[in-house]
Amino acid sequence: MLQNSKPERIYLGGEAEVRIYSDFVEKIRKKKNYRVSDLDKILRESRTRTEARIISAARRNGVPTPIIFDVQGEKIVMERIKGEPLREIMNTELSRKLGELVAKLHEARIIHGDITPMNLIYSKGMIFFIDFGLSFYDERIESKGVDLHIYFESLKAYFDNWEELKEAFISGYKSYEKGGEVLKRAEEIDARGRYVERRMRD
Ligand SMILES: Nc1ncnc2c1ncn2[C@@H]1O[C@H](COP(=O)(O)OP(=O)(O)OP(=O)(O)O)[C@@H](O)[C@H]1O
Ligand SMILES: [Mg+2]
Repeated sequence: MLQNSKPERIYLGGEAEVRIYSDFVEKIRKKKNYRVSDLDKILRESRTRTEARIISAARRNGVPTPIIFDVQGEKIVMERIKGEPLREIMNTELSRKLGELVAKLHEARIIHGDITPMNLIYSKGMIFFIDFGLSFYDERIESKGVDLHIYFESLKAYFDNWEELKEAFISGYKSYEKGGEVLKRAEEIDARGRYVERRMRD
């Protein structure tokens, strides 16, 4: 690994600074200045370890993710996935495939926490999940429902044909045995949100 070479690009995201090199990526979790610094360091390091662990667990469960090369404190060094952001090439077939992959994550109790077309890269004929910064383990239907709701909202924000993309995702997600139950919950979460919006407007 060329430790001294310059990154090709640097992203400043919400949680992290991401340095893109030709063959690897460094993701460094940023300091939160509103937190006491000792506690902040402990939290950042433990969340970094959780993120790296879940990236590897997803891969073992058949969901494409970058290979983890190293974890150092608040930094993850991982494989660079060369491809196109899913947002730029989204279609019903990809959304259906994504549904199958999220089903695998949920079967493994992994809640992604931020399934949006920006956190997915299409490469070598596969959809890679690249950002597990908000992920955690949970068996509850509610958490899985929220996970789907976030994806459905992101479809509405990015695509005019969001309805057919959502339907395609649903057909893929039904490969999960509890899929029907989770989808029902996602609809309830959506209805709750719309109710609150209406109350705030009136
Ligand atoms: N392993 C990787 N291979 C290729 N590109 C990557 C990789 N990891 C991150 N990136 C690029 O860096 C961007 C930011 O990474 P990531 O989403 O993990 O950080 P983040 O701080 O959580 O960002 P945000 O808050 O915007 O979601 C991604 O959208 C992607 O373009
Ligand atoms: Mg991201």
